[in-house]
Amino acid sequence: MDLKENYLPNEHRYDDAALYARCGRSGVLLPRISLGFWHNFGAVDPYQRSRDITHYAFDNGITHFDLANNYGPPYGTAEETMGRLMHDDFRPYRDELFISTKAGYDMWPGPYGNWGSRKYLMASLDQSLRRMNLEYVDLFYSHRLDPLTPLEETLQTLVDVVRQGKALYVGISNWPLEQLMVGEQYLREHDVPLLIYQGRLNMIDRKPVETGILDFCRKMGVGFIAFSPLAQGLLTDRYLNGIPADSRMARGRTLTDDRLTPQVLDLVSALRDNARASGRSTAEQALRWVLEHDGVTSVLVGASSVAQLADNMKCVQNP
Ligand SMILES: NC(=O)c1ccc[n+]([C@@H]2O[C@H](COP(=O)([O-])OP(=O)(O)OC[C@H]3O[C@@H](n4cnc5c(N)ncnc54)[C@H](OP(=O)(O)O)[C@@H]3O)[C@@H](O)[C@H]2O)c1
Repeated sequence: MDLKENYLPNEHRYDDAALYARCGRSGVLLPRISLGFWHNFGAVDPYQRSRDITHYAFDNGITHFDLANNYGPPYGTAEETMGRLMHDDFRPYRDELFISTKAGYDMWPGPYGNWGSRKYLMASLDQSLRRMNLEYVDLFYSHRLDPLTPLEETLQTLVDVVRQGKALYVGISNWPLEQLMVGEQYLREHDVPLLIYQGRLNMIDRKPVETGILDFCRKMGVGFIAFSPLAQGLLTDRYLNGIPADSRMARGRTLTDDRLTPQVLDLVSALRDNARASGRSTAEQALRWVLEHDGVTSVLVGASSVAQLADNMKCVQNP
C-alpha cells in the first residue's frame, strides 16, 4: 500500500528562534529538543505512527533526528524507516534536516561488524546511507569506545568520512573522559573539530556531570546532547500506577522492571508534585532539569506517540 500523500510542513515551524542553541563552538544550531529513533521507528512499529511523530516534530521546528546503524528492531530498520520518510515526505526538506547516525555496537556477524575499526566504521556508514536513502549524513558518531582498537584508527576514520563527504561533522558517544580528551585533540589537530558528545544525562543518571565530561565539552567548545533524558520513560507519569501494557518496560527490551525501585518511585512522585505546583507536566520538568545545565545543547527524547512528543515540547515552549 502506498501511504504517500503530500506532506506540507507547518509554515510557522521556525517562528520560535529561541528553540535553537549553538552547538558548542561551531556554525551549527540545534533544536534544544531533538528526536531519537532508538525505539518506535523499527520494522516492528507502525509506519504511520512513526510518520506522524516525525511530522509533528518537524512542524514544530525539531530539525534534528538521531539514528544509529542498530536501531530497530530488527537492526537497521529505523534507518530504513528514515529512508522511507525521506522518500515519502522529507526529500524537499533535506537541507532543513540535521540527521545523525552512529556505529560502534554489534551490527553484523563476524570480526568486521562491531566496535571501532576502520573496516567496520566505513562499511557501516555506507550501509546506513543506503538504508536512509541519503548521500551524506550531517553527523556521524563513534557509538562507543573500542578498548582494543588504537584510538587513532577510529579517530582517523572519523576524519576520513568527513573528507570523503559522507558526513559533514563527527561526534563521539559514551567514551570516557580520558579518551574523549585524546579524541577532541586529535580531531581538532586534523581540522575536523569534534562537533558534539552524546551521553546519558537525566535526574537519575548524572555521570556526565560527575565525571567532568560535560564540563570538558563546555570548556572545549564541544556541544553536548543528552540521551535518555527521561530515563527511558521512568521520569514521567508512565509508571506511577503500575506498568502499562504498551510501555517500553512491558515490551521488556531495554528497560527492565528492576529499575522501578521505591527510591525511583519516590523521586518521580516528588517530581510530579513539584511539576504540578508550577503548572507543568512531569516529563516537562525532568527535561527542564537537563536543559538547565550549562553546556547542554539539546535533549534527545524518544516518543511512542505524538501526544508524548507534544508534552515533551513544552519544556521549550513554556516560559
Ligand atoms: N548514544 C547512545 O548510546 C544512546 C543510547 C540510548 C539512546 N540514545 C538516543 O537517545 C534517544 C532517546 O532515548 P530514549 O528513547 O531512551 O529517551 P527518553 O526520552 O528518556 O525515553 C523515551 C520513552 O519515554 C516514554 N515517554 C517519552 N515522553 C513521555 C511523556 N511525555 N510521557 C510519558 N512517557 C513518555 C516513552 O516510552 P513508551 O515507549 O513506554 O511510551 C518513550 O519511548 C534515542 O532514540 C537515541 O536516539 C543514544
